[in-house]
Amino acid sequence: MKFRMTALALVLAAGLGACGGGSEEPAQLEADAPPAEQSDAADDAVETPAADVEPEEAETAAAPAETEAASEFSGLPEPYASADYATGRRLFMQCSSCHSLVEGGPTLLGPNLYGLFDRHVGEREGFDYSKALQDADFEWTPEKLDQWLTSPRNFLPGNRMSFAGVPREDQRTAIIAYVMSQTGYTQD
Ligand code: HEC
Repeated sequence: MKFRMTALALVLAAGLGACGGGSEEPAQLEADAPPAEQSDAADDAVETPAADVEPEEAETAAAPAETEAASEFSGLPEPYASADYATGRRLFMQCSSCHSLVEGGPTLLGPNLYGLFDRHVGEREGFDYSKALQDADFEWTPEKLDQWLTSPRNFLPGNRMSFAGVPREDQRTAIIAYVMSQTGYTQD
């Protein structure tokens, strides 16, 4: 009975592992009856040629969370589709004290950004823009946002956004991709 339950547990654990649902360690712990064998993974790697594959697999296995998250950007054009979602979300925290992204979100210190890429600069209803933004004349595109975020002060002198800018291009790309993914961006 005990044996059968262990075997069942193994099958279940192996099944879970195969789905990538969780750590594979429990399966191994139960599979290897003599604790000595599984206690030293380094030894195994030397003795078993097949173990060569394992470190690589382990590395790829560490990535699924990111791969999944990256697909959040997959509908965007390049270079935004390749940006890292977790990075974009984290870096947007610099903006989130002043900007909400959700549809119908509140005005904070800055205007709500939902639908930004369909809008003319300085035209979010209900926000009292500086003259610099009221006088500016362009539609927001990812490229314009990139220029704005590089240095708000240089891009539209006299604006009221108290934000120094994001000097690193890859970080700007990640932030912009995040904004695109959250504000209903569509191509065309
Ligand atoms: C300290 C508050 C603050 C922070 C931080 C901030 N902003 Fe702003 N943002 C503003 C204000 C205020 C305005 C309006 C500026 C004006 O009218 O001159 C603005 C304007 C904008 C606009 C123009 C909106 C429009 O309707 O034309 C965009 C786009 C924008 N911000 C994006 C960002 C992003 C992305 C970040 C983070 C990287 C960020 N902002 C960080 C306060 C902030």
